[in-house]
Amino acid sequence: MDLQLIISYAQKILHFDSSGHDFYHAQRVANTAWQLYQQDQVAVEQNVEPLILATGYLHDTLDDKLISDLATAQEQVQIILQKTGFATKQQKQILSVSQHLSYAANLQHHWKLPLWGQYVQDADRLDALGAIGIARAFAYGGKNSQAIYDPTIPCQKLTNKKQYRKHSTTTINHFYEKLLLLAYQMNTPAGLKLAQKRKQYMQQFLTEFLAEWNF
Ligand code: ADP
Ligand code: NI
Repeated sequence: MDLQLIISYAQKILHFDSSGHDFYHAQRVANTAWQLYQQDQVAVEQNVEPLILATGYLHDTLDDKLISDLATAQEQVQIILQKTGFATKQQKQILSVSQHLSYAANLQHHWKLPLWGQYVQDADRLDALGAIGIARAFAYGGKNSQAIYDPTIPCQKLTNKKQYRKHSTTTINHFYEKLLLLAYQMNTPAGLKLAQKRKQYMQQFLTEFLAEWNF
């Protein structure tokens, strides 16, 4: 299946983004998810590669934090999926997994994703960890007028989507409030293994950051 229409659409929608959700994030999620799936699964389910790649590219074009008119975005995505050759059932699966993937969507209710969707979710979470995760967190923090760090502001527990979207805390706090916890929430063996490695790298960064701060 030729995914060029999908890739071009993701490029068009996400190219402007400077909050860490640009086209290259989508591309990494698509490619990482497919790689992790192949690492774990000896027998590849039929038609799963285009489902994983399409969802990886499209997931943030259907996210309410980036897209104001979700209904129109959904219609556009459906048209593109149809033109690409996805059956109606697959189109629905791609839309549904994209919309139930995010951390925010899963704060109060844990959505059960199909196995292939769990790889896309793990890849999305992995992109919030490691060196790239650090870069994305500070990009997001700057874009949302959030301080890098303030030792007088305590960490908070994020329990619902509204609270999560307030951006009231600092970016260093965000590592403790969310990012380090992601490593415990992986769905898949390959995702879990890579998450542990990336989490360790982040912890080293935090140790160094706080040592410099307290020098
Ligand atoms: P999800 O889509 O899974 O709900 P987000 O899109 O909100 O998660 O988070 C994705 C990226 O944005 C991550 O790299 C994350 O670190 C960053 N991010 C989200 N909220 C914050 C925040 N308050 N401070 C710093 N980075 C954030
Ligand atoms: Ni994403």
